[in-house]
Amino acid sequence: MNKFAVILAAGKGTRMKSDKDKVLHPLLGKPMISHVIDNLEGLNLTKKVVVISDGREDIKSLLKNEVDFVVQHERLGTGHAVKMTRELLEKEIGTTLVICGDTPLIKSETIAKLFEIHQSNQADITILSTTVKEPYGYGRIVRNDNNEVVKIVEEKDATIEEKLITEINTGTYCFNNQLLFQSLLELKNDNAQNEYYLTDVVKVVSAHGGKICAYITFDEEETLGINDRVALEKANRILKCRVNEKLMQNGVTIIDRNNTYISVDTVIGKDTTIYPGTICMGKNIIGNNCDIGPNTQLENITIGNNVNVCQSVITDCTIGNNTKVGPFAHFRNQSVIGDNVRIGNFVEVKNTKIDKYSKAAHLSYIGDAEIGKNVNVGCGSITVNYDGKNKYQTIIKDNVFVGCNSNLIAPVTIAENAYIAAGSTINRDVPSDSLAIARSKQENKVGYAKKYRK
Ligand code: UD1
Ligand code: CA
Repeated sequence: MNKFAVILAAGKGTRMKSDKDKVLHPLLGKPMISHVIDNLEGLNLTKKVVVISDGREDIKSLLKNEVDFVVQHERLGTGHAVKMTRELLEKEIGTTLVICGDTPLIKSETIAKLFEIHQSNQADITILSTTVKEPYGYGRIVRNDNNEVVKIVEEKDATIEEKLITEINTGTYCFNNQLLFQSLLELKNDNAQNEYYLTDVVKVVSAHGGKICAYITFDEEETLGINDRVALEKANRILKCRVNEKLMQNGVTIIDRNNTYISVDTVIGKDTTIYPGTICMGKNIIGNNCDIGPNTQLENITIGNNVNVCQSVITDCTIGNNTKVGPFAHFRNQSVIGDNVRIGNFVEVKNTKIDKYSKAAHLSYIGDAEIGKNVNVGCGSITVNYDGKNKYQTIIKDNVFVGCNSNLIAPVTIAENAYIAAGSTINRDVPSDSLAIARSKQENKVGYAKKYRK
């Protein structure tokens, strides 16, 4: 059976008090709406349509390759929003999931189950509902004496008795697609908010004798709708806990789960330990037996096995096996660090390849460079890669020893097995097996200090 999804994201999000669209606010580094879309992966949906309001180029550019868009010019309610997808969906035969862009915690398993239950019951509508202690603000699920769902009533339209109902609408449903679009034509806006409610489709279908089911999920946390920044913080906490627990169950040690922030798109191997204050955002792959942290920030990185990263910041880089990083290192711009490398205290590495067994243990800037195997970059040495206009490359071949506090003025190549004397400023290529000294000669004026002191 064909499956489709409509994601509603044309709301104003006023309660966020933000210049940014509500659904673009991140949870563990990823925009809310991307969580919703990614959670639909693996469900084999034929079409995903996002309803946005006018001028949301930011949402469009974020999701452009993943979904179709329709624009809801006027915000006339959730039913009206779904209606905007008519041209793309109306004629299709199958099941349409409707989900809100502000409920990113609903798991893909739950959505898969919703489809399953909808299909096995041969229902016309299946509502994802849940029971909560505090139902205020949500639409209530109204059932008849046979316990069948007959309608959903919104908070603002509910009678005193209806307000006591604790089974609420999560805003996620499966619909018989063609029936949905027929029923939308019958919606009226004679309610407290003068909106065309999607939830009234239930009443319409029920009146025509259609079959309405509800799948009650018991995980109340899943269904949290994010309307303000208090809920955003709560959602972040729930998601963080979910991610950390899953990692721990898969063999990762997390020392302090409350103080560890790992994105849903991070994969970590077993026997790796994550120390407090570690933040891994974006897409990461971290191998087995690593020690990461404390106070470390990683984003879009790949790390091998047996790697230590201590108090460091690494973005968009790859690190091989058995390599030690930090404390206080900074890697960025697609640097590729090989196996058994050591990059230590206060070293910045940018757009650079470093081959195995090389070291830069202290106080260096290595930018736009290619460093061979078994190279030692002495303390305080710097690749001078920028002349104020352009950037140039430094090439250091295998087994080179760069003495402390050297400046390598790029473009420059240091050939195999060369030595650079400490304190040199190198602006010409150095041939292999040579020693380059580029500093003024020392002069000792014997007795001069004594004379000077007088
Ligand atoms: C909605 C449901 C309510 C449910 C709750 C769950 C309706 C009428 N009510 O209420 O039963 O308990 O979600 O969180 O559906 N949107 C549009 N266009 C519009 C209006 C809304 O795209 O014209 C989008 C919003 O961006 C949002 C979603 O639809 O993603 C829900 O809208 P919102 O105003 O948050 O509805 P609730 O009052 O929370
Ligand atoms: Ca909402």
